[in-house]
Amino acid sequence: MENLVIPKSIAIILDGNGRWAERRNLPRAMGHKAGCEALEKTVEDCVRLGVDCLTVYAFSTENWKRSVVEVSALMKLLRFYMVKLIDVANKNNVKAVMIGDESRFDPDIRKGIQKLVDATSKNTGMTFAFAINYGGRDEIKRAIEHIVDDAGAGVISKENINEELISSYLDTKNLPDPDLLIRTSGELRVSNFLLWQIAYSEFYITDTLWPDFDKEELLKAVESYSKRQRRFGGR
Ligand code: IPE
Ligand code: IPE
Ligand code: MG
Repeated sequence: MENLVIPKSIAIILDGNGRWAERRNLPRAMGHKAGCEALEKTVEDCVRLGVDCLTVYAFSTENWKRSVVEVSALMKLLRFYMVKLIDVANKNNVKAVMIGDESRFDPDIRKGIQKLVDATSKNTGMTFAFAINYGGRDEIKRAIEHIVDDAGAGVISKENINEELISSYLDTKNLPDPDLLIRTSGELRVSNFLLWQIAYSEFYITDTLWPDFDKEELLKAVESYSKRQRRFGGR
């Protein structure tokens, strides 16, 4: 397509791993594994496209409600991919950051997150934000607690409160708001992802299940984005 407009910031709700596995009579964990492979490729595809920031929703604050078997399979994959991502990120000059509340993870996972962040912190290319134990409402709740603490300590006062200040207390404080939000597997909902940040994001929903998402699918989303007329409430 001519005149392709590359979004600076892309967010993805990677959904459909379970259905992908179920359609193949495989355990759901196999769908998550295939999903991790699709994610690895998508990180590289976004780098090649020239995206500045990719934010992916990998585990929500609500996903703990799933069976013990599924949650432990996801934690196992998280342990493995946090290490693998160091290489993928460093090969592609990608800086990895984590958003969400890490306090609920086991100590070794928290160490793994820190290792990934530290090992890639000097990279100057795309930022890859990994949302795990992330919930938009939980993020806003934690930001409000922090704002109240700072107000109590006299660091800020009511007069300082504006949208920029609120943004600066969120997990995404150093990240651009998404220009394009992609959701795979057809669900028409936000499922508690980046509630504050997607105020003016363009949505792209595809029926493709996440493990089948590839460069062609990414290009389709970017082509659709390129045709949008963003008005931000103006004319
Ligand atoms: C997305 O796939 C990954 C996570 C939410 C962890 P799902 O596991 O939600 O897949 P479906 O929606 O059941 O197909
Ligand atoms: C959203 O997918 C969360 C992630 C992709 C991590 P879900 O599968 O959890 O969302 P719902 O339950 O269909 O809304
Ligand atoms: Mg799902």
